[in-house]
Amino acid sequence: MFATMGALGLAPTAQAAPHETPFRAPRTGDFHLTGRAAARVVVIGGGIAGLTAAYELGKAGYDCTVLEARDRTGGRNLTVRGGDTTTDLQGTRQTARFGDGEYMNCGPARIAQWMVTLDYCRELGVPLEVFTNTNADAYLYNESAGMTGPQRHRTAKADVYGYVSELLAKATDKGALDGELTADDRERLTEFLKDWGELGDTLAYEGGERRGYTTVPAAAGTPGVPLGDVPTASQVFSSGVGRYFSFEFGFDQAMLMFQPVGGMDRIPQALTRAVGTRRIRTGAAVSKITDTGGGVSVIYTQGGRTRTVEADYCVAALPPNILARIPHNLGPGVQSALEAITPSSAAKIGLEYRSRWWETDHRIYGGITETDQDVTHIWHPSYGFHGERGVLIGYYNYGSDADAYARLTPKGREERAVAAGVKIYGEKYRTELASSFSHHWRQTPYLEGAWHNTPGGPEALRYKPLNEPAGRVHFAGDWLSHTDAWQHGAFTSARRAVTALHTRVLAS
Ligand code: FAD
Ligand code: ALA
Repeated sequence: MFATMGALGLAPTAQAAPHETPFRAPRTGDFHLTGRAAARVVVIGGGIAGLTAAYELGKAGYDCTVLEARDRTGGRNLTVRGGDTTTDLQGTRQTARFGDGEYMNCGPARIAQWMVTLDYCRELGVPLEVFTNTNADAYLYNESAGMTGPQRHRTAKADVYGYVSELLAKATDKGALDGELTADDRERLTEFLKDWGELGDTLAYEGGERRGYTTVPAAAGTPGVPLGDVPTASQVFSSGVGRYFSFEFGFDQAMLMFQPVGGMDRIPQALTRAVGTRRIRTGAAVSKITDTGGGVSVIYTQGGRTRTVEADYCVAALPPNILARIPHNLGPGVQSALEAITPSSAAKIGLEYRSRWWETDHRIYGGITETDQDVTHIWHPSYGFHGERGVLIGYYNYGSDADAYARLTPKGREERAVAAGVKIYGEKYRTELASSFSHHWRQTPYLEGAWHNTPGGPEALRYKPLNEPAGRVHFAGDWLSHTDAWQHGAFTSARRAVTALHTRVLAS
């Protein structure tokens, strides 16, 4: 009884965390007084959600079998290193030629501190390092607004904050806010704005050291030469750089952020070890799911042979767009809910360079350059500082931009991405290039999407059949969470399915 209450979250639990419904992993002890036994569970999909379900159920002795269609576990958590090969749905085959120690995270790359992902890294012994999500020295580049070259993030920010502060301070001074604020409030607001925007006594923004220097301050005799040519307020607003600053306030994107040392796939690798490779069948593509009333029968193909797994329960942890195409008898409600969810495109290209010229020439160590080009984001690596080589993410784009690049050959993608980068960084972006590797999620077998559009949110009525078990089949995946496109969503969704399944077994 107590164990059932614990699994339901009604009894005190050891792992109550502030960020989710308290989760208590199933334990073998849960069965001791009940006379019940752990069941056989077939898990479909060896991504983060499927592996987590098998890992947590395994703690209580459940007999889990994971069926993963691809030749490796991890799903969208994909890190590519030298020698790795992929073939996409268009038949395009690529082999990465990155040097030793170099890698690109094609999918997940950053983890916020509040995410349960970090708890799993701790539990599984995955070492972490800081991922630099915002960097004052990275660039902003808006060609469509007339920018002829990049601007440092810090310079743009000083100007935007400066002029916004000046305008608000002057409006306050002229009495425009008298109806909103007391005299004390106005004084405090003005003090704040003078500090926040680096305003002078006349409440004017005139630039300052926050914008940066052409010659940095050094020894006596070298006081530094501040960047000149402070633009007008009109020029600053028309450049559109202000649009990039709310990113760093995002609950999911605010610094500090973290990454596993050596690549994001250290997480599924650790989960795979913890589950046990003997329980995981890779290259095993499920083709039919049947709830038999007393159990679940799952047909899959592996190495050209068709096989069946019989189990007491199933956790279906594969993408909804893929699951919707697999024959099942889980009911029309399940099918129409799956069909209401649509996959989205996203892509990345890794550009490997012979030298880390962005560190030596541009003094940029990690962080992201934001652009209005179709490459969207350019990422500087947050690992291997001062090493010989390095891999930049030359595009991380979405939707129609990702689709447009997908239509090109890998060489064509490289050329187009490099042409955009040269405009920002100069010719070394082309001349120092050693190799490239591009990955497009909409074109990836068994995934066919980066993340999912779930109109109305995961708890909308139409998805009810997926948020509860369909017979003996439970569903899991980031798409069934409020943090789609984050591993946190996959982990917590798996925990939810595990809790429901275990509670049911204890109550059966
Ligand atoms: P998936 O990883 O999709 O796993 C589903 C599994 O089912 C796959 O392994 C698939 O091969 C398998 N499968 C499919 N069909 C079958 C079949 N017929 N039979 C058997 N198996 C099958 N998260 C972060 O935390 N931080 C980030 O910075 C971040 N950035 C991202 C950037 C990109 C470009 C992308 C694509 C994702 C990013 N994410 C990020 C999200 C993260 O990758 C996902 O939330 C998480 O990996 C989803 O795990 P999952 O197990 O729910 O699904
Ligand atoms: N969560 C994904 C990212 O941060 C979309 O890039």
